[in-house]
Amino acid sequence: MSLVGKRVVVVGGTSGIGLATAKAFLEESANVIIASRSVEKLSSAKQSLGDNVEGYQLDFRNETNVKAVFEQIGEFDHLVVTAGDAPMGLFSELPVQSVKEAFEGKFWGQYLTVHAAIPYLKKGGSITLTTGVFAVRPSVGATTLAAINSAVEGLARGLSLELAPTRVNVVSPGLVDTPIFAGMPEEQRQGMFAAVASKLPIGRVATAEDVAQSYLYLAKNTIATGTVVYADGGTRLV
Ligand SMILES: NC(=O)c1ccc[n+]([C@@H]2O[C@H](COP(=O)([O-])OP(=O)(O)OC[C@H]3O[C@@H](n4cnc5c(N)ncnc54)[C@H](OP(=O)(O)O)[C@@H]3O)[C@@H](O)[C@H]2O)c1
Repeated sequence: MSLVGKRVVVVGGTSGIGLATAKAFLEESANVIIASRSVEKLSSAKQSLGDNVEGYQLDFRNETNVKAVFEQIGEFDHLVVTAGDAPMGLFSELPVQSVKEAFEGKFWGQYLTVHAAIPYLKKGGSITLTTGVFAVRPSVGATTLAAINSAVEGLARGLSLELAPTRVNVVSPGLVDTPIFAGMPEEQRQGMFAAVASKLPIGRVATAEDVAQSYLYLAKNTIATGTVVYADGGTRLV
């Protein structure tokens, strides 16, 4: 399917995987709409993507806010959600409240976004959500992420039947070099990347641009539905 002239909403499109995905859709001549919480990130993303990109301030954990934004956006063709984050930590040590908040910030945010978007999604469109390889290969300390990502993948499988013919899929990245790790001391970050790269069959850590190609594929391929695309460099196998 050609993406020329299609309206594509990228929730989380102001940083990392979402920003690279917004760029990738623009390169296919789609009309791109980005949304996230921070006014600063929205303005710098719009500067890097170009003035023809629409931007909306949106916190995908807030149902009223999400509904109002989709009402403003109106009809569109493809939805991509890359927004979200959740903490690492041992099951026995993470406070229950922080795990509940993590579900708000990755599971419920994606759920509410789809809920609000459905009335405006045109026939022939698609929805692509984001999980992470911890759903199927958690490391110690990634139990919360394993649970959240598995829940999102289950949601997508169910939705692919209930929302048909709209196609619903998931991209599951492994480790990706994005601003999500900006808070880490540089030496620790580089050490983590080097350790992961040395184990992976691809011998390097993925870039946001690598992962963006998976969202393009799922928007374009009209037989892809109810599926998970692993953009993980072979993480599941090592
Ligand atoms: N990077 C990795 O290694 C990796 C690995 C596996 C899975 N993932 C998953 O991939 C997705 C994208 O990660 P990334 O590395 O691209 O992160 P990132 O660079 O930090 O980007 C996250 C984006 O989501 C937006 N966002 C966060 N919370 C939001 C909220 N409540 N409402 C609306 N927008 C929100 C952020 O903008 P604002 O701050 O302006 O809201 C930002 O645009 C996440 O779901 C992450 O869990 C990443």
